[in-house]
Amino acid sequence: MTDRHVVVTGAAGGLGTQLVGDLVERGFTVSALDRHAEGLDRLTSAIPGVTGQVVDVTDSGSVTATIESVTARHGPPFGLVNLAGDNRLKPLAELTDDDWRYLVDANLTSAFYLCRAVMPLMRAAGGRVVNTSSIFGLRGADNDSAYAAAKAGIIGLTRALATEFAADNVTVNAVAPVVVLTERVRRMPSAHLEGQRARIPLGRFSEPADVTRTICFLLGEGGAFYTGQTFSPNGGDTMP
Ligand SMILES: NC(=O)c1ccc[n+]([C@@H]2O[C@H](COP(=O)([O-])OP(=O)(O)OC[C@H]3O[C@@H](n4cnc5c(N)ncnc54)[C@H](O)[C@@H]3O)[C@@H](O)[C@H]2O)c1
Repeated sequence: MTDRHVVVTGAAGGLGTQLVGDLVERGFTVSALDRHAEGLDRLTSAIPGVTGQVVDVTDSGSVTATIESVTARHGPPFGLVNLAGDNRLKPLAELTDDDWRYLVDANLTSAFYLCRAVMPLMRAAGGRVVNTSSIFGLRGADNDSAYAAAKAGIIGLTRALATEFAADNVTVNAVAPVVVLTERVRRMPSAHLEGQRARIPLGRFSEPADVTRTICFLLGEGGAFYTGQTFSPNGGDTMP
């Protein structure tokens, strides 16, 4: 696997930072994409050799240009991990049109733009795509309808593209983590978090590494025969 090129979106975030470190440790060449310039600077200073690229992944033209640029630098990607996403907890009656569009764009449309730009480049040599859903995309959650709808959409997108690209040896899977206490999540109301923790039989929230190890597995040798699947590191919260 050494030197294979992996594109990671949301790379400056809690899960992204952990994942980029894990991938570099395993010998991958990483293009780290995020809209947060300072966060990317911190990441690329902490992990030498990573290429950082500031991009808003909800902007179709910018996504295309960015993929052209990282491909010119490191060659066609072997891997794509769509981690970029965001959440706004609100009851349905308070969810504005703007909230809905923002959350669907950030969590679902962004993955479509990235898949469309990257997956055709994988056709020649095969590749691995990992999209990010959520436990809320599997079982729902109160005050989170737009996010849950977008994350359930990720599972549909994943299955459709897994079917479409199977003959090209490009696999497409989703991860659907339970709550991971990243900085963004720590800002959520404590009553909401406590309610979520109480549901988890293993009795704790996820650590970032619980999720990134799953993603590394899917990008590695062990992941070769899985496609169209949703992997949920969730401590037993949901047992389908
Ligand atoms: N943390 C959790 O509890 C949890 C649980 C399930 C799923 N997830 C999903 O995992 C992913 C990563 O979550 P996290 O906790 O690391 O969040 P985070 O907020 O720490 O990281 C998300 C990153 O995505 C970037 N981003 C957001 N919108 C973007 C855009 N339009 N263009 C470019 N970059 C953009 C942000 O700048 C940020 O660096 C998200 O998709 C999230 O929905 C997280």
